[in-house]
Formats: sequence, C-alpha cells, structure tokens
Amino acid sequence: MTRKIIIDTDPGQDDAVAILLALASPELDVLGITAVAGNVPLPLTELNTRKICELAGRPDMLVFAGCAAPLKRKLVTAEYVHGRTGLDGPDLPEPTMPLQDKHAVDFIIDTLRAEPAGSVTLCPLGPLTNIATALNRAPDIAERVCQIVLMGGAYFEVGNVTPAAEFNIYVDPEAADIVMKSGIPIVIMPLDVTHKALTTGPRVEAFRAIGSAVGTAVAEFTDFFERFDMAKYGSEGAPLHDPCVIAYLLAPELFTGRTINVEIETASELTLGMTVADWWGVTDRAANALFIGDLDADGFYKLLTQRLARL
Ligand code: BDR
Ligand code: CA
Repeated sequence: MTRKIIIDTDPGQDDAVAILLALASPELDVLGITAVAGNVPLPLTELNTRKICELAGRPDMLVFAGCAAPLKRKLVTAEYVHGRTGLDGPDLPEPTMPLQDKHAVDFIIDTLRAEPAGSVTLCPLGPLTNIATALNRAPDIAERVCQIVLMGGAYFEVGNVTPAAEFNIYVDPEAADIVMKSGIPIVIMPLDVTHKALTTGPRVEAFRAIGSAVGTAVAEFTDFFERFDMAKYGSEGAPLHDPCVIAYLLAPELFTGRTINVEIETASELTLGMTVADWWGVTDRAANALFIGDLDADGFYKLLTQRLARL
C-alpha cells in the first residue's frame, strides 16, 4: 500500500533532498508539491521545485504556487544560508515543465475533499502559511488529514534564526499556531533531531559516489550549505533538516520522541516563533504532537543514499 502525501516546501537545498527522497520511494504517492515563500520568495521556490522534479526525472509532477507572504507579517528569507537562488550549488537547467494554474491552497483543499478521509498526509518543509490558509478557508479538511509530519521548531536546540526560534516557525508563527491547534495528528522534526542528521565527509562522498546526476547534485547542494552551518556551529557537517520528514514516513523506527504539548509564541517580540514544548510534562496542557528528539543517523543516511541511487 502506498501512502498519499502532499509536500509543501520552500526549496532550499535540504527541501530538494527531501523531495528527491520522496520521489525515489515507491511507498509514497506524491499527489502534488505546493510551494510557499520561505527560504527565498515564492517565484523562486516554485521554480526551484520544478527544477528538482526535472532532476528526479519527474516532469509530470504537479507543482503549485501558494502564498507569497506570511499570514500577518512581512516575509523573512534566508539567502544567507541557501544562496541567492535558494538552491545554490549545482547548476540546474531552467525547468520546462509547467506550473499548475491552480493556487496551492485550493489544491490542498480540493485534494483533501476528494480523497478518502484519513488517506492524505501533509508534509510541510517550510513556513506553514499554505497549510494554515487552507485550514482557515476550509475547516472541514482538518478531520480528513491523516497526519501532518513537519520540519520546524526546537526545544533543546532553541533557535537558529533568533536565539529563541527556528526559521520555519519564526517566519509565520500565526500559521504555526493554527496548525498546532488544528487537532490533526502532528509529528514534528525540530532542530533537536535535525542537528543530529549531519552531513559528514564520508556521507557526502557516498552521495557523490552514486555517480548519477542526482547523486552529484545532492553532493553539491551539501557542499554549498555545509560551509554556512559548519562556520556557525563548528560542527563536522550540516544538518539535513527536511529529509527527516520523508525518512520518518519511510522508516519511523529510525526516530524517537515524546508525545507532548507544543505551543507557539506569537506575542513576545523577544521569543517570537518559539516552540514552547512541554518535554518534561510540567504542565497539564493536552498533548498535541509527537516531538522527535533523536534519530539513528547512520540508518538515516544509509536509507537516503540507497533511495537517491534509484533516481
Ligand atoms: C528549516 O529552515 C530552512 O532554511 C530549511 O529548509 C529547513 O526547512 C531549518 O530551520
Ligand atoms: Ca525548508
């Protein structure tokens, strides 16, 4: 049985690797990919999404453009991490596959209404603007979603864009708040786990050794953004954040976490976008997410490399 998913994304080199992992995995039926503004503005994230689909040999994939700005705030981008294009590193050709006419939010709503209830999983890899807009506009879809598995937030690692907040949540905290309060079963891949999924030298060389266009591109993506993370954290490599979402769908046994309450700070200027995670169970607030804390990093990279080699 394949699992139907919609990937919502702001590529981003790590988003690109996540999309490639999904498209390489026969267990997943990617119904469509929706782009959102985040790492770079929307015209670039939708373009980058199409470049990645063509790299994967999937020009037939349905790609939709969504929200160009957060619900209530000005867009904050991250060219300082991902480069001017959002996908700096390999020189990928301009895509020829079309962008779909439909708005991403309409695609999400229509798909959830058309598919059997409980059969579609949402995989957000960027700010949650498209997902929250869909929930605002069509509250009936909440009970039709199988699960949301998202990359965002942090508890022990606290913040990467401010001292308190992780980028995806910080960019649109109001959207994240709506998603966290939706009642949908949620799995969160925070920095606590993604900072353990580091691209070491041998792991990047394993991508390169695949010897295909995809393997080479993935090695060049990591070569590019590694520099930033290694200088910032002094770590031996860079975290491959977003592929953790897809890897969880394929091999949940690689991950461990706790089912806890997670709330989003939307008021304080100082801690805006913080994921206030009740890891230690010190409140009586109801659990609303499985918050992942650890992974088998070798198992994760083995899975990723094996799957990428299929493309
Ligand atoms: C998240 O922010 C983006 O820069 C990455 O693509 C990832 O989704 C990590 O904080
Ligand atoms: Ca992302």
